[in-house]
Amino acid sequence: MANILIIYSTTDGHTREICLRLQKVIENTGNQVTLVDIANAAAIDLESFDKIVIGASIRYGKHSPAIYAFIKENSQRLDRKPNAFFSVNVVARKAEKNTPETNPYLKKFLKQITWQPKMLAVFAGKINYQLYSFRDRTMIRFIMWMTKGPTDPNTNIEFTDWDQVEEFGRVVSEM
Ligand SMILES: Cc1cc2nc3c(=O)[nH]c(=O)nc-3n(C[C@H](O)[C@H](O)[C@H](O)COP(=O)(O)O)c2cc1C
Repeated sequence: MANILIIYSTTDGHTREICLRLQKVIENTGNQVTLVDIANAAAIDLESFDKIVIGASIRYGKHSPAIYAFIKENSQRLDRKPNAFFSVNVVARKAEKNTPETNPYLKKFLKQITWQPKMLAVFAGKINYQLYSFRDRTMIRFIMWMTKGPTDPNTNIEFTDWDQVEEFGRVVSEM
């Protein structure tokens, strides 16, 4: 049985939802999973885990600064274990932008960090306009209009391919 740590960064909770699904799949394979919000990650002893996964969503083109800081601080500890990173964003709803090789945010992120995750994934996120502030709703609707996505202000849509999430969970179990 492996002891697996999943650290996540989320603003509206969707990346945490993805982590919960990963936890379910991984625990079904007989491994143990601990989920930790990036805000609490500094207090965690990374050495006590066999594998480490980090997941983070994109907001206005970037993963959270806390994710960059954590990776910078811990890249050698991460390197010593089986590890993985996944990004959550809505650009990944497009078939031509939903792999680690084709997703612009993940490609850019990997160039900005020294850690080279051993496994990578990209998951399409969620849009729930009524949850956002007026400013965020206006901005995201505009971006969606430009990229031919949904603009109805009542849209609450999940683009996530849960089969893909579950497959990644199985890969993490085996890595
Ligand atoms: C204010 C805001 C900005 C966002 N910016 C981007 C973006 O630049 N590119 C993108 O692909 N998705 C963007 N998204 C979509 C999020 O990545 C998506 O909603 C994701 O599911 C959020 O996950 P979280 O709830 O874990 O934070 C944005 C969402 C919000 C609310």
